[in-house]
Amino acid sequence: MDARRAWRQSHRQFCGAPALMKEIIHSRSHLPILPSPPLSLSPPLPNRKKKKTQMRAYYFDNLPGDQRLPHDFNPSRPVDPDTLQSIKVESWYIPVEGHEDKLDGVAKERDYRNRDVIEISKKGLGDIYDEKLKGFYKEHIHEDEEIRYILQGGGFFDVRRMSLPLLFFRITHNAYTLFAEAPSDQWIRLAVSAGDLLVIPAGIYHRFTVDERNLTRTVRLFKDEPKWSAIYRGTESESNPHRIEYIKSISVAA
Ligand SMILES: [Fe+2]
Repeated sequence: MDARRAWRQSHRQFCGAPALMKEIIHSRSHLPILPSPPLSLSPPLPNRKKKKTQMRAYYFDNLPGDQRLPHDFNPSRPVDPDTLQSIKVESWYIPVEGHEDKLDGVAKERDYRNRDVIEISKKGLGDIYDEKLKGFYKEHIHEDEEIRYILQGGGFFDVRRMSLPLLFFRITHNAYTLFAEAPSDQWIRLAVSAGDLLVIPAGIYHRFTVDERNLTRTVRLFKDEPKWSAIYRGTESESNPHRIEYIKSISVAA
């Protein structure tokens, strides 16, 4: 089995099973060490017109502490638009003043016929504010897109980007052994403010928190009936058809 086939095999295992160390043993000791295939989860990106956005995207620093703080590396590790496109996250910037027509246009294009406005604020939620924030920050998926247009305040949407298993060789007992290290997830933090329109695809792991302003007023767009029940990360979410479909949509065709 050559390195490319081995990589594909390990990738398929990653897509359909829990992340475990996989080992592929080459029985012939004289096999040459081949270069690893290109480390890319996604097919080549089509040339698409870039959308105007002000939203900042960067890797989350994974440090403990108040979730409402920026959690930016120092120096920051920005995430480019192509990476966001590769995980199916889309964003636009529409100035709040006079936003209605443009928002209507996006809703029409994506067949979203209904909307409402919600506000997450300490003043509005009172005693249950902290509890609600913890709930929004629990990693989950939905069975439908999550579309949010920020009218006031802001916050952070964190979305998971799957990283590739790393391949490496080791010589053991006259045999070359090819290891695929367990893949891991990385949080990408999307800092949104008034005027940002964000689309998070069905099936992607994500979470939300307000920032230090403690206020987010948001338009939620949906079709007939919103499917916003949170399916928290676990066995049920991993086998959810929308999760499986999402993984297929961002993976290299075998
Ligand atoms: Fe959500």
